[in-house]
Amino acid sequence: MIKYKAVRGTRDIFGELANKFEFLEKAAKQVFKSFGFEEMRTPIFETGEIFTRSLGENSDIVSKEMYLFKDKGDRLLSLRPEGTAPVVRACVENNLLQSGIDKKFFYIGQMFRYDRPQAGRYRQFHQIGAEFFGAKNPFIDSEIISVAMKIIEKINVKETKLFINSVGCNNCRTKYSEILSEYLHKNSDILCETCVERKNKNILRIFDCKIENCKNLLKNAPKILDFVCDDCKKDFELLQKYLTVQKIEFEVDKSLVRGLDYYTGMVFEIKTTKLGSQDAIAAGGRYDNLVREFSGEDIPAVGFAIGEDRIAELLEERNFCDKKSVFFVTTDANKNAEQILANYDIIQMLREKNFSVFYNGESKSIKSQMRTANHLQAELVIFIEENGSFSIKNMTSGEQKIVTKEEFLKEFFVES
Ligand code: HAM
Repeated sequence: MIKYKAVRGTRDIFGELANKFEFLEKAAKQVFKSFGFEEMRTPIFETGEIFTRSLGENSDIVSKEMYLFKDKGDRLLSLRPEGTAPVVRACVENNLLQSGIDKKFFYIGQMFRYDRPQAGRYRQFHQIGAEFFGAKNPFIDSEIISVAMKIIEKINVKETKLFINSVGCNNCRTKYSEILSEYLHKNSDILCETCVERKNKNILRIFDCKIENCKNLLKNAPKILDFVCDDCKKDFELLQKYLTVQKIEFEVDKSLVRGLDYYTGMVFEIKTTKLGSQDAIAAGGRYDNLVREFSGEDIPAVGFAIGEDRIAELLEERNFCDKKSVFFVTTDANKNAEQILANYDIIQMLREKNFSVFYNGESKSIKSQMRTANHLQAELVIFIEENGSFSIKNMTSGEQKIVTKEEFLKEFFVES
């Protein structure tokens, strides 16, 4: 009988899935390093206010999905629902940003949102994210998109599509809000209750609505991209030009507004056709006002986050473990420890060479040890013979050969 289960919306990650996560994180780190990003690790919980202020009181995350709690000191804390606000908080607190100097950070970690769990949507999930501070220009926007695309390319995930849009600057949004409000006003009887509220509090959020009537109404609604100011328009055109030069395919999606309030200008989403309704595998955009809100300093920024759990689903089935595994079989049932210890030098050397080395902790029959080796999918099984030699069995080809210790050392440790 199982007494305890993982909490709804959370899961244990082990075996092939853990290998996939490792593979993904390693590939992402290589790409980040090649673009000059440094790692940032922020706490898993933060003062609740940093999210309320930056993501927006009326965003779905803040209004419905935050894991908010009071600690014993009566502080209102939140498990982080995303990584951008914490990175900005960390940069400001540790004085890492200076006007005119570019700074780039990446992060990998768990995020928490109290949303309805379904395939590809968890309450504890994992993001790989990046934030670029200092430069405000469409070339950097294109580069941030290129970093996300490079990671996806490196892990060989195909059938993805990049969608871009501009949500304009504050001026564009004020003007556009009035235009959208007027359009909706004429059709307000069709809107759902939440959208009526959104219309009054944060009108752009209406585009996040999943209800059919609202979605239909919005199909013909005026779109922000058609009302952005000349500067925002020019930036967006340049972004498209730079993406084209970099041979990054994209589609402009005028309805893409993103669910968080901090965005200004360019926003993007990378979707897959392979995952059903939870099809966004990465998303991001420019957020030029957030640092100012946290510190008063005017430092523009742009970033993205990849959903690790969703990407892991897309990885083709193959062996993601890049370690070679070796199982030592002791052949004298009464001398298990002695045989292992007599060859401990070799075992250590193999481990230093990045082999995963296994053996039984207790004396077992050869048959039983082979069963374990098979279970572990060891690539090589090494029988420790009584005369000090080894019999090496390649578990893939079935080939087996007997070698002396000297021959063994030569084969494994002398560089050819
Ligand atoms: P986001 O769109 O909320 O953006 O999340 C980014 C990605 O995280 C999504 O595209 C999705 O793949 C994944 N994700 C989100 N929620 C879940 C969930 N419940 N379960 C599984 N995966 C999920 C952000 O978080 C922004 N901070 C991105 C950003 C960085 N913008 C600028 N800098």
